[in-house]
Amino acid sequence: SLDDQIAAVQAEIDDAPLDSAEAAEAYRVRFLGRKSGVVTDLFAQIGTVAPDQRRAVGQRLNALKQAAQDRLDAAADGARGGAGGAEGATDLDLTLPGRVPAPVAGRAGRGSLHVLTQTLADIQDIFRSFGFSVARGPEIEDDWHNFSALNFPADHPARDMQDTFFLEPPPPEGRGVVLRTHTSPVQIRALEDGEPPLRLIAPGRVFRNEAISYKSYCLFHQVEGLVVDEGVSFADLKAMLQAFARAFFGASDGPAREARMRFRPSFFPFTEPSAEVDVWWADSALPDGGRWMEILGSGMVDPNVLDNVGVDSERYTGYAFGMGVERLAMLRHGIDDIRLLYENDVRFLRQF
Ligand code: PHE
Repeated sequence: SLDDQIAAVQAEIDDAPLDSAEAAEAYRVRFLGRKSGVVTDLFAQIGTVAPDQRRAVGQRLNALKQAAQDRLDAAADGARGGAGGAEGATDLDLTLPGRVPAPVAGRAGRGSLHVLTQTLADIQDIFRSFGFSVARGPEIEDDWHNFSALNFPADHPARDMQDTFFLEPPPPEGRGVVLRTHTSPVQIRALEDGEPPLRLIAPGRVFRNEAISYKSYCLFHQVEGLVVDEGVSFADLKAMLQAFARAFFGASDGPAREARMRFRPSFFPFTEPSAEVDVWWADSALPDGGRWMEILGSGMVDPNVLDNVGVDSERYTGYAFGMGVERLAMLRHGIDDIRLLYENDVRFLRQF
């Protein structure tokens, strides 16, 4: 009978699943569809009902429709509120993929660390594993920390306008505020603030007013190293740098994989003796199959420097080094132009 059919549809309306967008759409078509919906079918049968009962049956069928609509609306609200409810027949489709930033080369943009940042992190990890702590100093320095305490004579060419950026014009006697030209001023700050034994590195940016080319840029990064203790020798310095090179290049597949290095006698006002270290850049296009590339300056801390900061130079000795991070990154990855590291061309950056 029609009564039984209405009861069956009522039960279905209450229980039919509404747990996905597809289920909600099927539900809408089945119970609220105008052409083939089951409630529409029931309305079509109303002519078979005794005339005095048509009104009551009509009301029951309208109530059925309303119940179906209410359940559908409630499910849509639940979905919209994210409460885990089913999705209704609305314009909200939780199954669509989320909105993502404009794709780069077909994928959603997910950044990565700049190759210099990666290189710096690797250098720091290696020295931390050797027991070094990490110190930092300001990029704007005074003459004392950048030059005088480091034993630069008043007329040393490094103080020249040629390669130092002065923030204030140097007064006649040659003192001024500068952008640090190296990380060695952090040696002075560490020695002023602390007591030996000291064993630290100081990573950071340095600035030089040099002609820009494939191998030099107006700013670059150095990692300074300083070890001061009783009985520190040049052999310690050499062993430390060799261990570093092995750790840094050993894991890479760049041109300097073998980490062939050489120590060359050199001069710095703040170290005596001094040495520069070169690493072999293999390149079959070059006449010798490669060339030496300088990566760092180093030496035994000059006793004058220890005296300048009030450390007993009879009791303590130390070594120091300052390595160029860009050079190390270039060697490791076979990058042949330092400017690539500062242009932020994503076609370059994406390779690392
Ligand atoms: N500060 C020197 C430079 O920038 C490098 C260096 C650091 C040399 C420590 C010796 C000791 O060239």
